[in-house]
Amino acid sequence: MDQAISPVVRPEAPIDPLSTGSGHRFGAIETFDTTGPVVRAERRTVSEAESRRANGPDWDRYADEYQATHGPFLGDAGFVWGPEGLTEADLGVLGDVAGKDVLELGSGACQCSRWVNTRGGRAIGLDLSGRQLQHSRRLDEQTGVVVPAVQATATDLPFADRSFDVVFCSFGALQFVSDIAHAVAETARVLRPGGRFAFSITHPTRWMFPDDPGPEGLIAAQSYWDRTPYVEVDDETGEVSYVEHHRTLGDWVSVLAGAGFWITDLVEPEWPEDHERIWGGWSRTRGLLTPGTAIFGANLASS
Ligand SMILES: C[S@@+](CC[C@H](N)C(=O)[O-])C[C@H]1O[C@@H](n2cnc3c(N)ncnc32)[C@H](O)[C@@H]1O
Repeated sequence: MDQAISPVVRPEAPIDPLSTGSGHRFGAIETFDTTGPVVRAERRTVSEAESRRANGPDWDRYADEYQATHGPFLGDAGFVWGPEGLTEADLGVLGDVAGKDVLELGSGACQCSRWVNTRGGRAIGLDLSGRQLQHSRRLDEQTGVVVPAVQATATDLPFADRSFDVVFCSFGALQFVSDIAHAVAETARVLRPGGRFAFSITHPTRWMFPDDPGPEGLIAAQSYWDRTPYVEVDDETGEVSYVEHHRTLGDWVSVLAGAGFWITDLVEPEWPEDHERIWGGWSRTRGLLTPGTAIFGANLASS
C-alpha cells in the first residue's frame, strides 16, 4: 500500500450531492471533478487492459469522497445492495453465510464483507483500488471486525480453484470490466461445485436514459442495445481515465449460463416511498417509475 498519500480518515461529506447529468459514471455526483483530471465523456470501445489502467487510479482518486459521501449510508459493517437501500439482511439472496468461505469482488472498503463476518462467515475482500482497501483497513480498526483483503482484478483472481462457497459483488467490479465472460469464468473457477454467486449492477435499462436524477433522466435517449462502453478521456493527455461497461439483461443470462451457472433470482428492488436520498442518477423521482438496480442470484452446477 502507498504510505505517501494522505492519512485515511473519513473526510467531510460534500454538501448537496447532485448529478452532473451526463453519461453513466457510477454515482456521477459531488465535487469529484474538481480533484481529478478535466475529462470529456464519450462512448467508445476499450480493451480490458485500458479499463483496468483507467479505473484503478480513478477509484484511488475518488475513494475518499466515495467513502465520505456514501459510508454512513452503507454502514461500516452493513450490507446494502444498492442506492434503494435494500439490505442482504432483508433479501437473503446469499443464503446462510455462517461457516462459509466468501469472496467479495470490487469490495471497496469491505463493508459488505464485514457484515458477512459478523454473521459467522469468512469473507475476503478484493479490489483494484489500493485507496479503497486503505479505507477497509481503517474500518477494520474502527469496528474491530477485520476483513482480509487483496488488491487484484476480478478478471484474474489470485485464488486456487474451488476455494469459496459464495462469491458476491455489490455494484463492485463487474460493470467496470471489459472481459465479462472471463470475469464470470474466474468466479466459477474459484467457487466450489454448487457454490452461490450473487451480484448487483446498474439496471441495464438505465443505459437508455441520461444519468440525471431529475425528470430529464426519465426521457429515453440512447439505445438499450448499444453496448459501446461509457468512457471518460483526459482532455490533456488523451488517455482513457474512467470506463463503465453495459450489458443487456439477455447478455447477463448468456454469460452466466455459459460459465455453468443456473440463475435462481433476478431482483429489481423497488424504491421505498419515503426514501429521499440521491446517489448519482438514482433518486426518488426516477426510482418510483423505473428500476435502478438489478440483483442476480445464481448457483454453480454441482459437478
Ligand atoms: C461502486 S464501488 C463499490 C464498492 C463496494 N462494493 C460498495 O458497495 O461500496 C466499485 C468498486 O469496484 C472496484 N473495481 C473496479 N474495477 C475492478 C476490477 N477490475 N477488479 C476489482 N475491483 C474493481 C473499484 O475500485 C471500486 O472500489
